[in-house]
Amino acid sequence: MDIKGTVTLVTGGASGLGKATIRYLSSKGANTVIADLPSEKAKQLAQEIGNTFIPMDVTSTEDIKDGLQQIERRLGKISVCVNCAGMAPAAMTLGKDGPHDFEAYKQTLDVNLAGMFNVIRQVSAQMAENKPNSEGERGVIINTSSIASTDGQRGQVAYASSKAGVAGMTLPLARDLGRFGIRVLTICPGVFDTPMLKTVKEDVRAILARSVVFPQRLGRPEEFAHLVRFLIECSYINGENIRLDGGLRMV
Ligand SMILES: NC(=O)c1ccc[n+]([C@@H]2O[C@H](COP(=O)([O-])OP(=O)(O)OC[C@H]3O[C@@H](n4cnc5c(N)ncnc54)[C@H](O)[C@@H]3O)[C@@H](O)[C@H]2O)c1
Repeated sequence: MDIKGTVTLVTGGASGLGKATIRYLSSKGANTVIADLPSEKAKQLAQEIGNTFIPMDVTSTEDIKDGLQQIERRLGKISVCVNCAGMAPAAMTLGKDGPHDFEAYKQTLDVNLAGMFNVIRQVSAQMAENKPNSEGERGVIINTSSIASTDGQRGQVAYASSKAGVAGMTLPLARDLGRFGIRVLTICPGVFDTPMLKTVKEDVRAILARSVVFPQRLGRPEEFAHLVRFLIECSYINGENIRLDGGLRMV
């Protein structure tokens, strides 16, 4: 699919990987929309780029429905959706204060997995009404999982469960939506230099960087955006989980 002129929605678009995607796809001529929790930084980014900010909590069915309707009214139907909204809490299954907080576990699944599916099911209904391009394509959905979907670390049980769920959705989503001309891909990033990783101490960040096979550094958000571009443009790639991790394998 040609990026230029597409209405492109990026959830979690105000920060980190989503923000880099917004900037990169905007520079390639996409009509980008930032969907994120309400914040000044989201408004400022939209002002700077000259695109649209739609406040949206992905755990709210109404927020998603209203947001998608607003986008269709103002810009037209969405044909690219990149799902980056997410959270990464850390807690042990059994810690020194007792068992894992169950509400915190469920909230992680709610944002990272159920929230993402809620966006996908609603945006696919809009995409299915697009006029197909010469390849018969009506839309592309790109989700963000993590290498924690297979290589979850201690303290990552909630996060890893949610990201395994995202990776597990890729193929059935692609199979369900293929008949509408919609492709579905998932990126599984390794360790990227974003605000999410800023919560990790500097010495731990250095250890993480050294454990990458090559190049031995944290990933740059622009490298994530670059892969998103490829996945949009290459019509034959579909139903796949793609690691983007410099060869890193967490043990
Ligand atoms: N940074 C990494 O190393 C890394 C590695 C693997 C996977 N990921 C995944 O990539 C995605 C982006 O992460 P990032 O590193 O850019 O983090 P980030 O914290 O910089 O950005 C996440 C964005 O999601 C938004 N968000 C959180 N909850 C939301 C909600 N309920 N509704 C709408 N938006 C919400 C936040 O406001 C924020 O703007 C996440 O899903 C994360 O799990 C990141």
